[in-house]
Amino acid sequence: MDILNPATDCGLCPRLKDFRDANAAKHPEWFNAPVPTFGSVDARLLIVGLAPGLKGANLTGRPFTGDYAGDLLYATLLGSGFAKGTYAKVATDGLELVDCRITNAVRCVPPQNKPTGPETRTCSPFLASEIEGMPNIRAILALGGLAHGAVLGVLGERKAAYKFGHQARHQLDSGLTMFDSYHCSRYNTNTGKLTEQMFINVFNDIRGFLTGN
Ligand code: URA
Repeated sequence: MDILNPATDCGLCPRLKDFRDANAAKHPEWFNAPVPTFGSVDARLLIVGLAPGLKGANLTGRPFTGDYAGDLLYATLLGSGFAKGTYAKVATDGLELVDCRITNAVRCVPPQNKPTGPETRTCSPFLASEIEGMPNIRAILALGGLAHGAVLGVLGERKAAYKFGHQARHQLDSGLTMFDSYHCSRYNTNTGKLTEQMFINVFNDIRGFLTGN
């Protein structure tokens, strides 16, 4: 099945397009476009982040690549066998994901890292298509509350039935299993809300689930 992707010059969210255009005028060498999903559609795990970081995915063109959140995410994926190779903060580092795929609830960088509710809903057909286009998908990891809500929304799940919680596991009506983690942002690790071990534990749970433990 073909996966629906936003156009490179997508204008569905005027505020995000204006922000992208302003960044492109200042930094024409940056990616400055909706950031495509990374990894094979055959993966069983889809990781859903918030939105590209200004000097991370919006610069490099690959989710979580080039900023602090990516340092923690990719180190954890490498340590738990969900990635192989070397992560070098650029989209050309040759890093390969293993049985997982990474996308964002919102594909364009938002001002102050905060997409609005309408922007998240406008971008949701792309997330829905991403999930539908993965024939072997069994699990989704939502990084943070916004991703959690966006996933439930696109799957038509009852939001009140699945409360966000770090290391929570939700058996969804759709048959998929959703895992939650606090977002791996610098803010969350600096404040002690998320430690490296807490993040590793989430991936250990997912590994256990995928191997049938
Ligand atoms: N980079 C991304 O691509 N997504 C996030 O949620 C954070 C940083």
